[in-house]
Amino acid sequence: MVKLAVIGTGGMANHQVESFLKIDKCEVVAACDIDEERVSDFGKKHGIKTLYTDTDKLLAEVECDAVSIVTPDAYHHPLTMKAIAAGKHVLCEKPLALNAADALEMSEAAKKAGVINMVNFSYRNSSAIQYVAKLVAAGELGEIRHLHAYYLQGWLAQDDWGFWETSPHWLWRLSTKAGSMGVLGDIGVHILDFAGMPMGAYKSVNCKLKTFDKGENNTMGGFELDANDSAIVTAEFANGAIGTIHTTRWAQPHQNSLRLNLYGDKASVEIDLDTSYSQLKISRILGRKSMPWETVDCGETPTNFERFITAVESGVQDQADFARGAEVQAVLDACFESDKEDKTVNL
Ligand SMILES: NC(=O)c1ccc[n+]([C@@H]2O[C@H](COP(=O)([O-])OP(=O)(O)OC[C@H]3O[C@@H](n4cnc5c(N)ncnc54)[C@H](O)[C@@H]3O)[C@@H](O)[C@H]2O)c1
Repeated sequence: MVKLAVIGTGGMANHQVESFLKIDKCEVVAACDIDEERVSDFGKKHGIKTLYTDTDKLLAEVECDAVSIVTPDAYHHPLTMKAIAAGKHVLCEKPLALNAADALEMSEAAKKAGVINMVNFSYRNSSAIQYVAKLVAAGELGEIRHLHAYYLQGWLAQDDWGFWETSPHWLWRLSTKAGSMGVLGDIGVHILDFAGMPMGAYKSVNCKLKTFDKGENNTMGGFELDANDSAIVTAEFANGAIGTIHTTRWAQPHQNSLRLNLYGDKASVEIDLDTSYSQLKISRILGRKSMPWETVDCGETPTNFERFITAVESGVQDQADFARGAEVQAVLDACFESDKEDKTVNL
């Protein structure tokens, strides 16, 4: 049985714990949040009795094999470094850190300590993206020339997910002082990983970020709302392909839409997670003729939570590890530099 402690008990931690509790070989033994009421409600809701408001105390006192870090982004690096120093295996939420240097430090510390380390790029839970990565690796698409991908949310334009204007759960995501890297760091990080997973390394990026006015003087609930809400990235990959990747929080009626199209000289594929996590469409080229789109059933794939628990139990590292988290973080850093300097940045 893998004994797990959860650090941060907000929205995502609730989702995580529901998934961990379904895994037979995992027991959630403790939780921690700096907000006493929140951790107490979380404990009651999920039947977790050992509760803390201080991560140092939890790490010193609780017998656990692993921790899951589910706090706002700014705390991922310091809390992960403490957990690694305490000899714990770590699953960390995305983005792994606030910059590539911190992410690399986390990756190197985990390697040195010999602990399992994974970052929760949730959309790897789609069997369709795992299947596409295998198709590309087997050369089924031929030379990939072009890509387009998006991750669209609409919660700034409507209230389907509640009133962001009054909720710290949403407001910290809009403020760089609260450690947010805006839409690019929040969900752009997912689509950069999703597109890059089959494509391989990014060679260069050119990025345009935009922050739209919100509220009076761009301030609400004590948060300064200065983080980007829309991002457009044009990318070149080491395999020679080029493409566009874009993301926003203003795309109503989308709630949480991810899509990826890859165009190769032998075949093209499309994943649309609004349609299916486990199916993709493929059109092959036969004798210079395009065949009609065919739907492929991609079966099932273990979730990141299952992969993490299996990795801790077996001692065999799985993906996405912190090194991958750091690679994607370097792409984020390059995007910020590109926007600031108004130039293409090489990786
Ligand atoms: N993988 C995904 O698809 C996905 C989805 C949503 C959120 N996330 C990530 O999960 C993390 C948490 O997001 P959320 O939506 O749950 O936010 P949230 O605001 O709902 O919850 C964060 C919780 O962390 C607590 N906290 C803050 N600092 C802490 C500290 N130092 N120690 C312990 N607890 C602390 C807060 O009190 C709060 O209860 C973020 O990094 C976010 O990017 C990932």
